[in-house]
Amino acid sequence: MWSIDLAPADDAQAACAAVLSPEERARAARFLRSGDRARFIASHAALRLVLAYALGSEPRALAFAAGPAGKPELVGAGLAFNLSHSGDRALVGLSTQARIGCDLEALRPVPDAIRIARSTFAADEAAGLAALPPAARDRAFMAVWTRKEAIVKAIGAGLSMPLDRFSVSLPPGPATLLRISGGREEPADWTLAHLEPGPGYIGAAAIAQAHAPLRLHALPPGWPRLIG
Ligand SMILES: CC(C)(COP(=O)(O)OP(=O)(O)OC[C@H]1O[C@@H](n2cnc3c(N)ncnc32)[C@H](O)[C@@H]1OP(=O)(O)O)[C@@H](O)C(=O)NCCC(=O)NCCS
Repeated sequence: MWSIDLAPADDAQAACAAVLSPEERARAARFLRSGDRARFIASHAALRLVLAYALGSEPRALAFAAGPAGKPELVGAGLAFNLSHSGDRALVGLSTQARIGCDLEALRPVPDAIRIARSTFAADEAAGLAALPPAARDRAFMAVWTRKEAIVKAIGAGLSMPLDRFSVSLPPGPATLLRISGGREEPADWTLAHLEPGPGYIGAAAIAQAHAPLRLHALPPGWPRLIG
């Protein structure tokens, strides 16, 4: 896993944009706010940098295609990846072994956490959140949310997969997939990890492999200079 600070990339936007594909540049051009555009460009440049490093390739040489439910995949490389971005930070997960998903969120108050959990999450997750002291609830909600998004992103279905089809553990215990129904997935075949990729951020990674090893690295400050 790689954690990436997107803020310092503002003054390196041209270098970042230069390694993107025409499709990525066209997507970037559609952002109305310059800050959103800069963060999109930086996150995709950082994704290319990390993937190229892992593959011994060049950032601009990588080609992507969308999987059946829109999950981006590398063309012609046996490396699974997933990207998440929130605020000034991005997460990139890589696996040579199995499907991987990750999710990152900037920590924030969630005044309607219980209502969202009851209408969207599995019943045991909603009950667990409702039983927590209010002071612990926002962080626990975001931990559950990122764990669940990491799983649907690993599977590739995104939010088209109902979030009540499976349950994850609540903090402070280790992140675990407890139950999943309606398909061929088995909880024992999954590794779920809680991530704290930087101050004010919470995240999770899901890998469709039992006991998958997982390490969190950070791209160094000034990383756009490494793009070449
Ligand atoms: C994929 C999805 C879960 C993203 O969630 P998010 O928290 O908004 O965004 P994140 O930053 O965590 O992830 C975005 C990245 O996930 C990746 N991604 C896109 N589709 C994906 C999918 N189906 N599975 C896994 N990853 C996906 C992309 O790299 C994307 O980055 P990009 O937009 O810069 O190219 C969500 O947008 C989704 O489910 N999309 C599919 C469409 C859909 O089902 N819509 C129904 C809405 S109710």
